[in-house]
Amino acid sequence: MKNRILIRELQSKLGETVIVAGWLHRLRDLSKFGFAILRDRTGLVQVVLTAEQLEALRGLQVETVLKVTGEVVKKQSKDPNANEVEIQATSIEVLAPVRDVVPVEINKEEVDVQLDTLLDNRVVTLRNPKQRAIFRVQAALVHGFRQYMEAQGFTEIFFPVLAGAASEGGAEFFRVEYYGREATLTQSAQLYKQITMGVYEGVYGVSYSFRAEKFATSRHLTEFNQLEFEVGFADFDEVLDYSEGAIRQMLKTVEEECKPELELLGVELPPLGDRFPRIKLKDALQAYKDEAGIDETHEPDLSPAAEKWISREWGPKHHNCGFVIVTDYPTSKRPFYALRDPADPTNTITFDLIGFGSEIISGGMRVNKYDDQLQAIKDKGLDPAQFEDYLMMHKYGIPPEGGWGLGLQRLTQNILGLDNIKEATIFPRDVQRLRP
Ligand code: 4AD
Ligand code: MG
Repeated sequence: MKNRILIRELQSKLGETVIVAGWLHRLRDLSKFGFAILRDRTGLVQVVLTAEQLEALRGLQVETVLKVTGEVVKKQSKDPNANEVEIQATSIEVLAPVRDVVPVEINKEEVDVQLDTLLDNRVVTLRNPKQRAIFRVQAALVHGFRQYMEAQGFTEIFFPVLAGAASEGGAEFFRVEYYGREATLTQSAQLYKQITMGVYEGVYGVSYSFRAEKFATSRHLTEFNQLEFEVGFADFDEVLDYSEGAIRQMLKTVEEECKPELELLGVELPPLGDRFPRIKLKDALQAYKDEAGIDETHEPDLSPAAEKWISREWGPKHHNCGFVIVTDYPTSKRPFYALRDPADPTNTITFDLIGFGSEIISGGMRVNKYDDQLQAIKDKGLDPAQFEDYLMMHKYGIPPEGGWGLGLQRLTQNILGLDNIKEATIFPRDVQRLRP
């Protein structure tokens, strides 16, 4: 729309006549006069209405799309330091009427409904400023990821979603009918990003991952995004450094680009400390026993409760850091591509990065020699014939390499302190949900 001013820019237009456009967020009817609260993608503004204008708006529903022309004036306030502006309307035009009453109240600070109702009505609940803010933060996280990876000189890759074989093993994958054959939806871009190590040495990408999870939990989706990364000629410490570096940049970008959103959400980002602590799984479990009094030292992994404790209690307490890198996971718990520790084949050179509540990254060094990879595939009970293309890269020379994948919705959930991952997913899919 020509000459349209965004609500965020109004502050600098005091005394000018402007055009704004957006949605009727609320109508405050004081009988002889009134106010329309107009909402656009940058915020809310109060529009002062004459009796006549009020009369014209009375018949309209909230969410009606309006174009307002008027003068930007200082808002009346008891606080002499307040410098909010409002608009004295001279004309109001309906750009799109609303047909039905909005099914959920979205013009309060919170959309005060159950999660399922929130999601069933996503088309409109997303318009609530706090809901909108969540996905602005998410976009800034991805922006920060790209900034970081581009600064390293790495190459962005666009990975396929349809594939022949499952990459992460297990039964958690979707099958789709593909011209009379069976295809799967990728669980991660793992195999593809590794293949690119024969060419680009450093790659990244935003992929779609699918998991046929059997249960709905507060941290699992059936479709999510991974921020994928893979680097050649790098050792384990470097792979870890890249994970820390990326997260630092991502949170910095959020701080730079999303100040109003963080304020609106009332969120303070987790502490980052000087360096993310790095701890072996067995030492993490020992600390959990010693300091939290819960003995899971016999477990091959961190439980959800232990992940929460180590990243929200232990990390902040000992390292002023909400991100904890846990290394040295047992071979039995890691996929066929994970590099085994040469000193102890029951251990892998892998890590999880626990980000302020739960695992947000898995990664590690990969098997890069053909014979070792063939053996590891067999050891996991998988059929090498299914991995012919993948093994081709090992046959023709792949440098020592590693990488990781970061769950975008998990990270968003954790840094914003959302109870359920679905709140951090714009159109979530889970065991029951396939709409909207
Ligand atoms: O831990 P995962 O399964 O690891 C991989 O996919 C590897 N290919 C990564 C690598 O490069 N080695 O998934 C990676 C991340 C998890 O740490 C988690 O943040 C997220 O993806 N994730 C999920 N997020 C939402 N719903 C699910 N069902 C998820 N499963 C994993
Ligand atoms: Mg994992």
